Amino acid sequence: MTGTRPGTVRHDAGTGTWVLYGHSTAYGLRLAAGSVWHVWWGPALTPGQVAALPLPPRDHDDVLGEELPGEGGERFGPPSVQVAFADGTRAVEWVPAGHHIDGGHLCVALADRHYPLRLELHYRVRPDTDVIERWTRVRHTGAAAPVAVTTLDSASWTLPAHHHHRLSHVGGETKVEFQLCRTTLRTGEFTLTSRRGVTRHEVNPWLMVDHGDATEEHGRVWSVALAWSGSWRITTRRTLAGQVTISGGPGHGGPAWLLRPGETWQTPVFAGLVSDGGFGAASRQWHAYVRRHVLPAAGEDRPVFYNSWEACGFDVDEAGQRALAGLAARLGVELYVLDDGWFGARTDDRAGLGDWWPAPARFPDGLGPLIAEVHRLGMRFGLWVEPEMVNPDSELYRRHPDWVLHMAHRRRTEIRHQLVLNLARPDVAEWTYAWLDRLLTDNPIDHLKWDSNRAFTEAGWPGAADPGRLFTEHTRNLYAIIDRLRAGHPGLRIEACASGGGRVDLGMLGHAELTWPSDNTDPVDRIAIQEGYGQLYPAVTMGAGAGDSPNAVTGRAAPLRFRLHVAMAGALGLSGDLRQWPESERREAAALVAAYRRIRPVVQHGDLYRLRPAALDRATVVQYVSADAAETVVLAWRAITRPREIDVPLVRLRGLDPSARYRDVERGELFDGAVLTHAGLNLALPAGDQASVLWHLRRVTAR
Ligand code: DGJ
Repeated sequence: MTGTRPGTVRHDAGTGTWVLYGHSTAYGLRLAAGSVWHVWWGPALTPGQVAALPLPPRDHDDVLGEELPGEGGERFGPPSVQVAFADGTRAVEWVPAGHHIDGGHLCVALADRHYPLRLELHYRVRPDTDVIERWTRVRHTGAAAPVAVTTLDSASWTLPAHHHHRLSHVGGETKVEFQLCRTTLRTGEFTLTSRRGVTRHEVNPWLMVDHGDATEEHGRVWSVALAWSGSWRITTRRTLAGQVTISGGPGHGGPAWLLRPGETWQTPVFAGLVSDGGFGAASRQWHAYVRRHVLPAAGEDRPVFYNSWEACGFDVDEAGQRALAGLAARLGVELYVLDDGWFGARTDDRAGLGDWWPAPARFPDGLGPLIAEVHRLGMRFGLWVEPEMVNPDSELYRRHPDWVLHMAHRRRTEIRHQLVLNLARPDVAEWTYAWLDRLLTDNPIDHLKWDSNRAFTEAGWPGAADPGRLFTEHTRNLYAIIDRLRAGHPGLRIEACASGGGRVDLGMLGHAELTWPSDNTDPVDRIAIQEGYGQLYPAVTMGAGAGDSPNAVTGRAAPLRFRLHVAMAGALGLSGDLRQWPESERREAAALVAAYRRIRPVVQHGDLYRLRPAALDRATVVQYVSADAAETVVLAWRAITRPREIDVPLVRLRGLDPSARYRDVERGELFDGAVLTHAGLNLALPAGDQASVLWHLRRVTAR
């Protein structure tokens, strides 16, 4: 029916209702009484059906259900628009200022009744996804004094009222990232936030809400995710009557941005999705959206990588790296990444950040000979950088002590002995771009691991006319530098890291195709980290390292096969000291890497089914299926054996063609698609702790 064609927007002038159509869902909003109201988010109703829906109910003395509530009138929830005009007035009062539809993009404009401020609500839908992108823009339409903007959310989402709501999100810290949290949403406000200038580990900028009845495979789930890598806030508000709103955007409190006459300020995207089919279906939809519409170089296979950090720490030099590179190449590694310690006076974390030239004692002839050797071995070369940071003990800081975030008469708090460069300053941003561009021009570097190891403190900018811009401009300039580097060096690929997984978000994923979710490579811990990561972000972005045994972080020993099998669930990497691995293990690792390279297209670009949730003493099982159902990969891991778990029951596979037969690529055994789908696959998971198994099945015939 053309009226509900995916990727389009319909407008009913009679009721002032717009309906946006995603792949199979619709989103409705209406202009009424000087505001824009939410009316529908769910399965695709016709434009007439949505136009006939009522406005959201009020909560006796509170206005609810606006698409972007401002301050003023009976509004007592979290304001999504907070401004202060020159005369001290803070509230806003809107009048309609037109709308614009362009394919799947809708812009609804409002103007303040008295003051020179225009607000635009933007929406975008696409035919191949139910993810709706929303963002906001404000414009100073006058010629006089600036308007102080303290809050401008990207969107506020309204969910249907219900007697029970449950919230899912991830929380953690460095080395324990992406732990899945599920909790009843109670009356009041619940905020996920980072005030640290960077996304950081504590919570990640997405959440999911269900009615408490959703499972991995069943139930409706509403989810939202913010595309921003600086400070951020997502507040969920629930009334006693069970109405829920979720508002979110960049920043959290702090100084205002002074919007100058003629100036526009645009927020990042806050994307939303309503889906049936439980948490699994929600994750698959997000994964497909990220792959199709967010990532650069999305369709490429991510190379098997090696990273020197776990093996060497800061102790790197040309001879040692050559030796490791030689071993890595024999194991089938395709990208060799030299981590921290290669530059300036960097022999530990106390010095050198900011002095981005190869350390003469360690790399006497620069990086060229090592890069040439890595290329000769058939691998790409990657290099660690932390461009937003400086050690006070560095030539850069001695020359430019004013380039860091700081405040007059205040201490400069050091974390990891480093300070944050003020990337909001155009001269600092330009300098940063220039040294990176020179490094990439002078050296055939294929990949940068872009790290960021501390939060902002004393986030001031003495002398700036508008220091409140700092938080936003730092992140925008970060994105802009990466984009310029990519444009100038088209083969360059970027890995996002921030003390492990501290800067994973839809914003960064628009500029970096790979992340490093955690420095903890212990496979037992990684099972939960990977499950939390994969709630929103796809396997193709998830750098998954297999390190040494015992593990460098936890001290726990693990068989090589288990370490590799767990890491095969994402973009596989190796990170241990290969020099210490017995030759028998190196041979085994080479065989496992070769097996990974066979399953890689399915793991990295297929659909993920979490057949059994992450657990320590039960088998965790994940399955990946290619888009055409011709190939599937099953990975099962069990950290601790309990007697009742020695015989794992059959596990029913998903997404296969029941009328086809599938052959096990390694062992040649044949299976009926119908049996795998309805009865299941016997995993044959070996007994014992840290047991794992890999199945790779390919369709052979269609009956
Ligand atoms: C923190 C990262 O998470 C590590 O992987 C490593 O790159 C170190 N920084 C280097 O200082």
